[in-house]
Amino acid sequence: MSTSSNERLWARLCAAVPYGSSTCSKAARYLPEEPAVVERARGCRLWDVDGREFIDFRNGLGPITLGYAHPAVDHAIREQLGRGIVFGYPHRLEAEVAELVQAVVPCAERVRFLKTGGEAVAACFRLARACTGREHIVQIGYNGWLNSLAAGAATLPRADAGTTPSGVPASLAAVHHAAPWNGLPALEQLAERLPGRIAAVCVAASYADMAAGREFYPALREFTRREGALLIYDEIVTGFRVATGGVQEYFGTVPDLAVFAKGIANGMPLSVYCGRRDVMDCCDRGGPVVISSTYGGEALSLAAAKAVIGVYRAEDVIGHLWRQGEAMWGALNRRFEAGSIPLRLRGLWPCPQFVPEPGAPPGLLDRFFRAACHCGVTLYHVPYVNFSHTAADVEEALSRLDRALETLA
Ligand SMILES: Cc1ncc(COP(=O)(O)O)c(C=O)c1O
Repeated sequence: MSTSSNERLWARLCAAVPYGSSTCSKAARYLPEEPAVVERARGCRLWDVDGREFIDFRNGLGPITLGYAHPAVDHAIREQLGRGIVFGYPHRLEAEVAELVQAVVPCAERVRFLKTGGEAVAACFRLARACTGREHIVQIGYNGWLNSLAAGAATLPRADAGTTPSGVPASLAAVHHAAPWNGLPALEQLAERLPGRIAAVCVAASYADMAAGREFYPALREFTRREGALLIYDEIVTGFRVATGGVQEYFGTVPDLAVFAKGIANGMPLSVYCGRRDVMDCCDRGGPVVISSTYGGEALSLAAAKAVIGVYRAEDVIGHLWRQGEAMWGALNRRFEAGSIPLRLRGLWPCPQFVPEPGAPPGLLDRFFRAACHCGVTLYHVPYVNFSHTAADVEEALSRLDRALETLA
């Protein structure tokens, strides 16, 4: 029996790479329909190793906001490549991009760079502990694998270990606490149990229920002020998507520290931790905290970020993500409703979440995702449009999904 290159390469990946992928959420689940191994992508389309074409709404699981191989970003990367990638001194781009972040992110009085989102969140925890002299961290949502330390904390988006995640010393788990989105009573209970001991609350939104942020972020702001703790926003998904400056710009409640990563460099590995001057200055020269990485100011990613922020300032990228998101996901919701299919997209149009309705048959969302792949559309639990999805792309994707929906009926 002949197998496709997709399946053969997937088998090779599984033999050599635990989980079949270095990123758990990228591992194929819907073979043979799914593009388990990608060959290339451009705009909003990708091709697998068998040459099958898909209209993509996974966007690298978030980083691609302008579209794959965006000309201005790729040009900036190529230009910088000719001048060097990383040096034994900072490059001028480090100052330029830090200033751009200051200009577009409300809380960003000072700015520093790392490579991954989880790493930047860990830097904020270090700063919060040093500034407050306290140990306990409260986490709402997923903040990267490196910070999945509390019993019941998210070990991946939409997954939690229940107990202390394996490989985490009990003493470390004891100073990390998971709390639910939009759940002030749980925070109040923690504050009662740990009076004067909470260093920070770090919050990543629940995408299906983002609208609750209008009340929840101000409530968190008040809670952390009262408790003398820092408020950290994990804007890794929301930044450069809901608004350029993330939920702090969109909802208007400013945290002490914030982290950005996906979205800032259209796929190049760059993360930002930024915030209040007095807190960020704890990792200044002579400050008590040392946070340092060889690749922090790597210039190809900074060149990409400068180009990305330039595009966001010159063009209505955010407006496009909202409008095209509504055109795509609003239309899909109407199709679910018309076909009595108990699935919905909930949340804000730039980053909504698929949610099975109460009573939906188990596995329905997986069957839909598989059928979508079969018809040439790649989806994710939190699907995104990017700046390159045109009205024609949305129309074509919807007509492909019409065929997928027929197979579910
Ligand atoms: C909200 C949120 N925080 C943190 C992270 C971790 O970022 P990274 O995978 O770059 O470490 C992710 C990744 O999916 C995320 O969605």
